[in-house]
Amino acid sequence: MHLTIRQLQVFEATARLLSFRKAADELHLSQPAVSMQIKQLEENVGLPLFEKLGKQIYMTEAGREIYHYSRSIGQLLTEADEVINGLKGAYQGRLSISVASTANYFVPTLLGTFHKRFPGVTVTLDVTNRKALLEQLNQNQVDLVVMGQPPEGANLEAGAFMENPLVIVAPPTHALAKQSNIPLQRLEDEVFLTRERGSGTRDAIERFFTQHEVQISTGMEIASNEAIKQSVQAGLGLGLLSRDTLEMELALGKLVILDVEDFPIVRHWYVMHRKGKRLSTVAQAFKYFLLEEANKLLHDTHKD
Ligand code: PGA
Repeated sequence: MHLTIRQLQVFEATARLLSFRKAADELHLSQPAVSMQIKQLEENVGLPLFEKLGKQIYMTEAGREIYHYSRSIGQLLTEADEVINGLKGAYQGRLSISVASTANYFVPTLLGTFHKRFPGVTVTLDVTNRKALLEQLNQNQVDLVVMGQPPEGANLEAGAFMENPLVIVAPPTHALAKQSNIPLQRLEDEVFLTRERGSGTRDAIERFFTQHEVQISTGMEIASNEAIKQSVQAGLGLGLLSRDTLEMELALGKLVILDVEDFPIVRHWYVMHRKGKRLSTVAQAFKYFLLEEANKLLHDTHKD
């Protein structure tokens, strides 16, 4: 039998009311539409479901059987609807998250999608650097934090959800802009604009150059990705930034990524909270949303 839920719904109303007209009124359909659905259902079942005596319709034996099942199926569908609505209702309340300054370039896009899915959730978003985030986690001031690699030995539960490549940027007119495979040592002749102490980007870059025994000179220390980009464009030095902060400048051709050996430095974005913290339903939903969907959603958005 290849019957549809719609046919069963129309049949259930007709059988309960024993009238095509009344069923049509209840379902806001025309009477021929009801007759058509019943006719198709009878064809699918292979037996007549109603018989007509005078002006009155009656169920046949097959009709009574199908009526029994159509009521059960209808009830199950109502139940499923209630369970799902209950779950949606659970996704209400507050979500307090803090993100690294650099994650600020993509977290709002993700929050937009999450909010559409769970409009009942009120979000508080704080944007600060890695050092301050670790402090907030330590003091249990937020539900979730988004930042780079968690420090070793910290009492945190962390899940990586996306790559975070760090790159070197220059204005398109820079002498190195068109060169390929620039040796790391060549960077010692340049001046760099770096983030403030406490920034995860800066920590990662310092570790990288120490490991590779390259000494870079810092021209200015700037506590903002935006200000670094502006200063690089103004010719004050080269920038070391997450690729995630550069979408607009690269698209507009205002900055270029230098092709330096061993670059990009590949890091990851993590969502984390204190170990053993009891996450609210909403916080759990956001955590899983990041882990399961963030990467795909952001890549699809970038393609648009
Ligand atoms: P930040 O973030 O450089 O903006 O602090 C990146 C990170 O936590 O790694």
